[in-house]
Amino acid sequence: MFCRTIVLLVGLGVASWAQEAKPATPAAPAPPAKKELVGSETCAGCHEDISTGFKKNAHAFLETNKKRGWEGKACEACHGPGSVHAETNLADDIRSPKQMRASAIDQMCLSCHKNQATHVGRLQGSHSRNGIACTSCHNMHKSGEESSSYQFKKASGINKNCASCHNDVWASFQKPNRHRLPEGAMSCTGCHNPHASFLNKNMRLAQANEPGCFSCHANKRGPFVYDHAPVRNEPCSACHEPHGSVNPKMLTRATVAPLCLECHSNLRSPSAAGTVGSVPPAIHDLRNPRYQNCTICHQKVHGSHVNRALLR
Ligand code: HEC
Ligand code: HEC
Ligand code: HEC
Ligand code: HEC
Ligand code: HEC
Ligand code: HEC
Ligand code: HEC
Ligand code: HEC
Ligand code: HEC
Ligand code: HEC
Repeated sequence: MFCRTIVLLVGLGVASWAQEAKPATPAAPAPPAKKELVGSETCAGCHEDISTGFKKNAHAFLETNKKRGWEGKACEACHGPGSVHAETNLADDIRSPKQMRASAIDQMCLSCHKNQATHVGRLQGSHSRNGIACTSCHNMHKSGEESSSYQFKKASGINKNCASCHNDVWASFQKPNRHRLPEGAMSCTGCHNPHASFLNKNMRLAQANEPGCFSCHANKRGPFVYDHAPVRNEPCSACHEPHGSVNPKMLTRATVAPLCLECHSNLRSPSAAGTVGSVPPAIHDLRNPRYQNCTICHQKVHGSHVNRALLR
């Protein structure tokens, strides 16, 4: 490859020397040559490995498709017209995403990909706001097992990509109680849309506008006759630590009582001054271990169809 480049460079050198041998017009510098499309064959002459690998990339579709306007010229769909670069071989003469700002890369990709459902909101997403371009996750010139298209077919491949930057989150998934991501049974994108969404934290939506958790935990969806207000009005993460927890039900607290008491601290209890021995329902004696495990009695903590106190 290196030798070939030298040969080509020498060849081009000879060619341009031959041109310069013509009687030169001294004065005005030549206007920059107009960039024109030269076709992928020309690129392949110098970028052999990339061109071979590209045949297995999804974008090879552009190379063969007659309707998209890039038949035989797919390289230039992203890199722009290459005639000048093919002559000079200079990096500056070709559009090179390696040297572009994240937002410019996104725009280039979105010139074709913008009307896809998955990218709704992409431009206000936190990845985009923090300079994480499409190409931070998707590689264009890797082939086989190294390509993102291949890796993203499996949950484990997606997790590996996300964990490479979010290693603190990945650490949470090493806790004893968590979704089965480390086993590759599920991926980050089960809950998050990597292309962002209108919700905070890039949360995925189920059924148009509900938390994505419902796509797997539909039995937690109401409407219940007796709602538990936070399940309806707060995100599930008001009580659950979705990345992993020491609590077997993935609660934000190790045991259930402190979680409930965060909001129900005014629970009438005989232990509180003035309510000792008061009339029911001031039944909760929080000094008694029996009352510590709230969900033993309040079994329908997400909502009940029959009982206002969420007992059954
Ligand atoms: C005659 C040989 C030749 C041809 C033809 C050629 N290139 Fe290059 N290209 C090179 C060389 C040499 C470099 C390395 C330049 C450098 O590192 O300064 C390069 C670098 C690049 C880069 C990377 C720029 C960077 O920022 O490092 C891109 C992208 C590129 N070429 C795309 C293309 C495309 C697309 C075509 C076809 C339209 C093409 N090339 C045709 C020789 C060629
Ligand atoms: C879908 C858009 C797209 C198409 C089509 C495309 N490229 Fe690229 N190319 C990129 C991006 C993005 C990069 C930056 C590196 C990366 O993310 O893979 C790149 C990088 C390069 C580089 C620099 C590689 C390096 O690491 O120095 C060369 C050379 C290149 N492309 C040549 C080509 C050739 C030749 C073709 C056609 C066979 C082609 N590209 C088709 C998007 C594209
Ligand atoms: C010229 C239009 C065009 C541009 C520019 C373009 N794409 Fe594509 N992309 C396509 C087409 C067409 C497909 C193939 C769709 C199909 O197979 O049905 C595709 C497929 C994809 C896929 C899905 C296939 C897979 O599994 O890998 C990804 C991811 C993708 N493109 C990312 C990008 C990124 C990132 C960029 C910018 C670096 C980009 N595209 C730029 C037209 C484009
Ligand atoms: C944070 C990583 C990340 C970023 C940034 C990202 N993607 Fe993706 N993309 C993924 C993952 C992971 C998938 C696999 C599908 C899934 O599970 O959602 C995917 C899938 C795709 C697909 C295939 C089908 C689909 O629509 O789901 C296309 C096309 C695509 N991305 C294009 C883009 C474009 C264009 C950008 C930039 C505007 C981009 N992606 C930015 C991670 C990312
Ligand atoms: C190249 C590094 C990188 C990769 C890869 C990456 N992210 Fe990010 N992600 C970031 C940065 C930087 C931010 C913004 C700063 C922050 O909140 O940590 C971010 C933000 C987020 C946020 C939103 C945080 C908030 O406060 O709004 C979520 C959710 C997220 N990423 C999920 C994912 C998922 C899922 C994947 C894999 C598909 C992924 N990320 C891949 C770097 C990355
Ligand atoms: C079971 C659903 C679920 C899965 C799987 C999941 N997340 Fe989250 N993630 C959430 C929820 C819900 C929040 C919001 C928590 C909040 O509101 O504070 C969140 C928040 C985040 C945030 C924002 C900062 C933080 O730590 O709270 C990042 C970054 C993030 N997730 C990345 C990831 C990555 C990377 C993966 C995969 C390794 C992943 N998530 C898997 C549900 C999930
Ligand atoms: C892609 C499907 C999927 C999504 C989305 C999902 N979960 Fe799960 N969840 C599961 C599965 C499957 C289990 C069973 C436990 C296991 O995997 O070992 C589970 C278990 C749980 C458990 C523990 C149940 C037990 O008895 O151990 C809680 C709590 C939970 N999920 C909460 C959530 C929350 C909150 C969200 C949204 C932020 C969510 N899940 C999103 C699939 C999902
Ligand atoms: C008010 C706090 C609270 C909120 C909000 C909440 N949960 Fe729970 N969740 C709990 C408690 C407490 C348990 C443990 C119940 C037990 O020990 O029997 C639990 C258990 C679970 C379980 C596992 C046991 C089972 O019943 O299958 C899943 C799955 C679950 N919750 C999903 C969700 C989802 C999805 C949401 C959002 C729609 C949500 N939770 C919102 C408190 C809450
Ligand atoms: C994020 C705050 C929050 C958390 C955490 C919380 N709750 Fe609630 N809970 C509420 C609100 C708000 C109401 C509605 C109060 C009202 O309508 O007066 C409510 C109502 C109830 C009711 C019904 C009261 C009635 O008579 O209508 C019961 C029982 C209950 N919660 C039990 C629990 C248990 C058990 C836990 C712990 C698993 C818990 N709550 C955790 C906020 C919370
Ligand atoms: C031994 C069973 C039992 C345990 C354990 C229990 N409760 Fe109750 N709780 C009840 C009964 C029964 C009622 C209904 C009284 C009535 O019908 O008015 C009730 C009512 C409530 C109410 C609504 C009425 C009020 O007094 O505000 C809340 C809130 C509540 N419990 C929260 C909790 C919390 C938090 C815990 C854990 C610290 C807990 N409960 C543990 C049996 C229990």
